[in-house]
Amino acid sequence: MTHQILLTPGDGIGPEVIEETQRVLGWYAKNRNFAFHTDTAAVGGNAYEKFGTPGPDETIAKAKAADAVLFGAVGGPQWDKLPFASKPEQGLLRLRKDLGLFANLRPALCFDALKDASSLKPEIVSGLDILIVRELTGGVYFGEPKETTTLPDGQKRAVDTQVYTTHEIARIARVAFELAGLRSKRVASAEKSNVMVTGVLWREVVSEIHKKEFPHIELSHVLADNCAMQLVRNPKQYDVIVTDNLFGDVLSDEAAQLTGSIGMLPSASLGAKQANGRQAALYEPIHGSAPDIAGKGLANPIAGILSFAMCLRYSFGRIEDAQLLERAVDRVLAEGFRTADIMQPGMTKVGTAQMTDAILKALDKLAV
Ligand code: IPM
Ligand code: MG
Repeated sequence: MTHQILLTPGDGIGPEVIEETQRVLGWYAKNRNFAFHTDTAAVGGNAYEKFGTPGPDETIAKAKAADAVLFGAVGGPQWDKLPFASKPEQGLLRLRKDLGLFANLRPALCFDALKDASSLKPEIVSGLDILIVRELTGGVYFGEPKETTTLPDGQKRAVDTQVYTTHEIARIARVAFELAGLRSKRVASAEKSNVMVTGVLWREVVSEIHKKEFPHIELSHVLADNCAMQLVRNPKQYDVIVTDNLFGDVLSDEAAQLTGSIGMLPSASLGAKQANGRQAALYEPIHGSAPDIAGKGLANPIAGILSFAMCLRYSFGRIEDAQLLERAVDRVLAEGFRTADIMQPGMTKVGTAQMTDAILKALDKLAV
């Protein structure tokens, strides 16, 4: 069976990171019998330049037809002044919405070799392995009305709407409980039920799903602001954190920094499992387009490469192949290879391509 993979490199360091991921795909084709076909589609600022929109219909159609999308990054200062609907980020948001990618899995794993690279004390982060499950197609990102109007006195008034339904909360809660069942069986649900009615509903629905369907999992509730604080105080108290779109955006950046660098972390965005077994899926490094270092060969390719490991695991059920890639990354870090973002004294500084070279070599060694 040939897997159909769509590459959407996007802007900034996106293309260089995707290029490195393609080398890893090539390794799996050659050595692990991984049969795939790739196509490429435009998204973000460069799509806007070419097609006048950051999320062209053709890209959406190709993404829907693919078994998995490997996404680079979008955005850049040259597009900051565009009207809201034309901004590069809207291309990514359209992909999420149109493909129904409601479940965003963001693991924050601290590789042992990097425990000193974190801005937190090594004992706080060593062995850290948490999974943030972020709701991705609802909440304030998509709620209507979303508009800026002008008041009679000439002032402007801007509105975003935070909105959640029972169904939206229940399905993301199930994803979190199911994943927790494969880990240490603990879920913390983060919301602001002290000030937001969406938070009250969130807490009710998560509790209900827990009681009825997952009583063997330990559930705790935490206010999102407290969760942010606990993440820097004692992050290892958490296993799976389930939260809404906006809190998930914020908490996952925070969790990323615990691990040393946002350049390390992958993510998977998944849709509902269809009756025919298909499941829409998009994999992306959680770092952005980093325009300041784009095109210089400095970017850390690891988040992109680990996103492919997630793709092997979640889209293609190749658990061993995913673990192999994760072990290869672990190994090159232990061997001292570092891109600039994770550089430490005494280590070997490498660029984007050399980091991938090292990972491919580690794969060769580990695969025998
Ligand atoms: C993320 C990013 C996106 C988001 C942007 C690029 C739209 O920050 O994936 O976390 O806000 O969701
Ligand atoms: Mg973000």
